[in-house]
Amino acid sequence: MMEDKNFYIKNKSKFMKNFHKKSKYMAFVLEKRFSLLEVDSILAKSKEEYEKILPDIPYIGGFQNKLTNHLQNSAEVLAYIRVLERYHLTEKEIGEILYKFFKKLFHKKLWLIQSISKISFKNKLFRKILYKWVGNMNRFHHYEYSWHSEIIEPEGDEFIFGLNVLECGICKYYNREHAGKYIKYLCLADYPMVESFGLHLTRTKTIAITDDVCDCRVSVKGNNKSFWPPYDLKEWNAKKINPFDNYTEEYDQWFRKYPKTFKSELNALKKCFEKDQKSIEIGIGTGVFARELGIKIGVEPSDSMSSLARSRGLRMIKSYAEDLDVEDNSYQQTIMITVACFLNNVDQSFSEIYRILKEDGIFVIAFLNKDTRLGRIYDENRKNNKFYEHADFKSGDEIIELLQKNHFKVVDSYNTVTDFEDKEYDINKGIGDGIFTVIKAVKEKK
Ligand SMILES: C[S@@+](CC[C@H](N)C(=O)[O-])C[C@H]1O[C@@H](n2cnc3c(N)ncnc32)[C@H](O)[C@@H]1O
Repeated sequence: MMEDKNFYIKNKSKFMKNFHKKSKYMAFVLEKRFSLLEVDSILAKSKEEYEKILPDIPYIGGFQNKLTNHLQNSAEVLAYIRVLERYHLTEKEIGEILYKFFKKLFHKKLWLIQSISKISFKNKLFRKILYKWVGNMNRFHHYEYSWHSEIIEPEGDEFIFGLNVLECGICKYYNREHAGKYIKYLCLADYPMVESFGLHLTRTKTIAITDDVCDCRVSVKGNNKSFWPPYDLKEWNAKKINPFDNYTEEYDQWFRKYPKTFKSELNALKKCFEKDQKSIEIGIGTGVFARELGIKIGVEPSDSMSSLARSRGLRMIKSYAEDLDVEDNSYQQTIMITVACFLNNVDQSFSEIYRILKEDGIFVIAFLNKDTRLGRIYDENRKNNKFYEHADFKSGDEIIELLQKNHFKVVDSYNTVTDFEDKEYDINKGIGDGIFTVIKAVKEKK
């Protein structure tokens, strides 16, 4: 098969029409967040961006390869991403917009279509045609940016159609375009798409989140519900992207490189942390603060951070703040230090911390305050920082609001560290211009 370098240019008007048709769904989602003027401007800029990237979409066999549509749809989404990034939204905020756009795009089909699709999947002949269709798409595998999949025959009633995607064209294309971090949000489109046929998708792994396969299984029964944030999804929970897995030593060394800044942070923590209480640290990392504060046990999802903490004599529980593997009402004090910006769901994590605390228990939270001079610098430059690239920094007001929502009463707060220099900083009361902010809160009755 010949490579048609001008394929996308030759079919430009068709692709632009497709883009325009779907833009009303994007407008619907954007209107929830932006003014109408801004929405118009985002749509216009995205159209321009799409027109710009269209000729460079990888050729994978033209219309003969049904997956060309798939790749071209992902380029439309890439155009939106590029424009939304200019509005200083976080990766997660952009991800949420994309997910809502997909939900709107694949809104439920008619009852009749859903019933037909359910019956069809049970029909042997239909399945044979479908398998042939999927097999046909593998014919285009020799194109660098196409897909490679294998069909998984159903055994028993667990699912009616199975597909293991071994290579994904969108992943390859997005990685080429340095937009790899958004692929996992594009994968979410598959859920409302399958749902629109009255069917149910289960997937525990995706290539987008460092797995070697996307294990898609379609079943007739199941509980299709809307999900955002997607941290409950198996494919997200199985392997979360955590920079601390890869840069453990580098993180740990920071404390030796900046001993005076570390001391200032420790002093601020000591103002709120009560010694001699039964305490646990959530996101304990390598246990640097825990050792100084006399904490003996911590929760940590990263294996490499845990193993260093364990070598320092700490007891470790492998779990996530959003879903703590810790008993109800079991600790008098919980501390969480510079973890909030890495959480998938701060609200859910606070509700979990509430659950594990005893009556009148104390929650000490230290976080990097976005609303400070240094915080703004960190936030603006996070894309160039391997630790903070995916961080979602919060302001003091945002943290306090979430604490109150989860029935915590704020009783004290301090802030420190106002510059990059390694020196002992003053510990100031309240929320102020120190980026390292500590809040002490107490569990209240619901
Ligand atoms: C900046 S480090 C802080 C470690 C330690 N608290 C300290 O101050 O040295 C952030 C830590 O949060 C952990 N983390 C990331 N996501 C988490 C989650 N969902 N639940 C709990 N911990 C998480 C990371 O693995 C990492 O160890």
